[in-house]
Amino acid sequence: MSLDGLRVNGARLRESLEEMARIGGTRGGGVTRLTLSDEDKRARDLFISWLKELNLEVSIDEMGNIFGRRPGRNNDLAPVMSGSHVDSQPQGGRFDGILGVMGALEALRTMADNGVETLRPVMIVDWTNEEGSRFPPAMVGSGVWAGALDLDWAYAKTDVNGKTFGGELERIGYKGPIKAAQWPVHAYYEYHIEQGPILEMVKKDIGAPKGILCLHWYDIRLTGTANQVGPTPMEGRNDALCAAAEMILAVNRLPEKMGGNMVATVGEIHNHPNSRNIIPDGVHFTVDIRSWDDELALKAWDVLAGEFDSIAAARGCPMEKEVTWRVEHSPFDQRLVQRVLDKGAALGYSTHHMVSGAGHDASYMNQVCPTAMIFVPSIGGRSHVEVEETTWEDCENGANVLLHCLLESAGEE
Ligand code: GLV
Ligand code: MN
Ligand code: MN
Repeated sequence: MSLDGLRVNGARLRESLEEMARIGGTRGGGVTRLTLSDEDKRARDLFISWLKELNLEVSIDEMGNIFGRRPGRNNDLAPVMSGSHVDSQPQGGRFDGILGVMGALEALRTMADNGVETLRPVMIVDWTNEEGSRFPPAMVGSGVWAGALDLDWAYAKTDVNGKTFGGELERIGYKGPIKAAQWPVHAYYEYHIEQGPILEMVKKDIGAPKGILCLHWYDIRLTGTANQVGPTPMEGRNDALCAAAEMILAVNRLPEKMGGNMVATVGEIHNHPNSRNIIPDGVHFTVDIRSWDDELALKAWDVLAGEFDSIAAARGCPMEKEVTWRVEHSPFDQRLVQRVLDKGAALGYSTHHMVSGAGHDASYMNQVCPTAMIFVPSIGGRSHVEVEETTWEDCENGANVLLHCLLESAGEE
C-alpha cells in the first residue's frame, strides 16, 4: 500500500488542541500550565487517556517523562520518536509545546485509522519541564534522559515558594518507575510553532531549522543597604536596584558590542523589600544569552561579567554571579532536515531553511540521535504570550509533514 496519500485529520487535531487549551486556560486566550502544577497533572492525565485509547504501551520515567509506544513489525529495531512538552510559560500560549505533542498523537491516530504497520516502533513523548520558568533551567526532562543533566540535581531544584521539583513530581503522582536514561533512537522529530517572525515574513508554510542556538543562563544576586529613602542622602547609597538597572542595560547592549549574531535578555527580576520608600537591599535577576556561535556567547559573558564587576564596585553592592545552565548550539542531522524540506514540498507546501532561536527538547535529543524539527508560522511572530496564534490550517500542514517524516524513518531498515 502506498502511504503517500495519507493525511492527518485536521479537525481532530484542532479539537485535541482546544481541549488541552482549556486546562489552565487564561482569560486572555492563553494557558498557564506550569511544570508539575495541578494543571500540568490534568494535561498529563488527559494525554495518557488518549494514549490508552490508541492501545499504546505507556510508560513514565523517574523524571515524569511520559512515553507511548506503537509496536512495529520488528521491535528489535530502534524506535522513531516524536513529541514535545505539555507545560507552559506563565500566561503563555496555547500552541507552544502542546502542538508537537498533539501533532505526534494525530500522526499516530492517522496510522491507526488506516491500519498502517511500520517496520520500526514509533514512540510519542511528553518531556517534563521544557519551559524552566517554574523550576529553572529548561529542558530538564529530556536533559536527564539524554544523560546531560543529573537526576538528583534536577530533583533538588526549587520554585519561588521553596517547593522542590522532586517533591512536586511525587505530589502530582508522576514520579514513574523506569529510569530516566536514554535508549537507542533511530530518529527524533519535534514539531513546534516557530515562535518568531521569519516564516510569516518570507511567506512560507513550513520551516526546517538547521539547528538551535546555544542557550546560556545566569543568575545575579546583588546586596545593597536598605534605608529610609527620605532622610538618606543620595551620596553614599548602596542601591542594589540601581546597580541592577545599569547591568540590565549592559545586557541589552551586549549583542551590538560583541558584533556577532547573538541575543541577550533579562526577563526576570526580584527586588527586596520592594517598597517605594525603602532603598532596595537585595536584587536577583536572570540573564539569557543565545547565539549559533558558542564561543562568542562565552566571550560575551566574560565581557559582561567584567562590566558587572565594575558596576557592583562603583555602587558598593556585593554581587554573586551564578552560571545556572548552558547548552551548546545544536546542529541537526542534515539528512533529516532535508527530509523535512522534501516531505513539505511533496505535500505541496512552501518550505524554508532557517535556525531556531527558541530552545527545545530537540537540543538534548540531538545529543542522542539524528534529530530534526518542523516549524509552522506564528502569527505576528508572537510567542510565550497569551496572544500566541497559529492558523488551524498551518497546524494541520505541519502535522502532515511530521506524519510523512515519521513514516519514512519508521520504514528504514
Ligand atoms: C524555551 O521555551 C526557550 O526559552 O526558548
Ligand atoms: Mn516549546
Ligand atoms: Mn516555550
